Amino acid sequence: MELIDGNKIAAEIIAELKAEVAALPGRKPCLALVRVGEDPASVSYVTKKQKSSAEIGIESRLIFPPVTISQEELFALVDQLNADPGVDGILVQSPLPKHLNEVAVFRRISAEKDVDGFHTMNLGKLAQEDDTGFVACTPAGIMELLRRSGVPLSGKHVVVLGRSLIVGKPAALLALQRHPWANATVTVCHSQTVNLPALTRQADVLIAAIGRAEFVTADMVKPGAVVIDVGVNRVPDATKKSGYRLTGDVHFPTVAPLCSRITPVPGGVGPMTVAMLMKNTVKARRQNPVKG
Ligand code: GUN
Repeated sequence: MELIDGNKIAAEIIAELKAEVAALPGRKPCLALVRVGEDPASVSYVTKKQKSSAEIGIESRLIFPPVTISQEELFALVDQLNADPGVDGILVQSPLPKHLNEVAVFRRISAEKDVDGFHTMNLGKLAQEDDTGFVACTPAGIMELLRRSGVPLSGKHVVVLGRSLIVGKPAALLALQRHPWANATVTVCHSQTVNLPALTRQADVLIAAIGRAEFVTADMVKPGAVVIDVGVNRVPDATKKSGYRLTGDVHFPTVAPLCSRITPVPGGVGPMTVAMLMKNTVKARRQNPVKG
């Protein structure tokens, strides 16, 4: 079994982007990061995005509206960022508080600044294999991890566990693409799937993105499979100072020995999500018709 080191691969991408940004004419790329409220996981993710931006030479603008912000007020904020010629990319951190309609907010962001790839236009472009659009960062990061680790997908059976807008659906579309590095046969499983283990055991590459701690157990994995663990779950752990430990959607101790390759949590997919957000922001800057 070999670990796929997301930290190492993300660091390579960040170094490449740093060189690319240094060579860009005119102003540096600018990313607006919107975080509603103080959800601890969101605080930590947005801080990581801010730090990576600084490392690459991307300007970040941080906007932290209170948890009480209304839908209309959040729309107004997005409209203002859409209209600002100095902002290339806009990210509204998910999850939003329950009283807000998340998908409506994602759609409000102009497609050209939607570095998360959640807008209808960008999902449509992904389905149409039009590479002028933005692809969601976590699935794009998974594909990049597989490519840079030398795991070919062509003709392989990729099983995606989870059908979310942020990971499962776009991951399935990416693995299906008519690219030499994709061309997979794809099965998408979810909470209503009957006899899930029979399907996951067919996977050459298993992408676990269901958000349930250690859900994937050894009996669900074919020996020699490549396992990509997208889960980031906080489970109580009295032995930790924080009171919790991070674990994936895969029961690592029993599944890892079976696999040919597996991503750890943390240090697998997570750092790749940030690296791909940075990549999308540089792309948004390049495609922004407002120069200077
Ligand atoms: N929450 C978890 N992952 C993501 C992501 O990729 N983008 C945003 N905006 N929120 C998230």
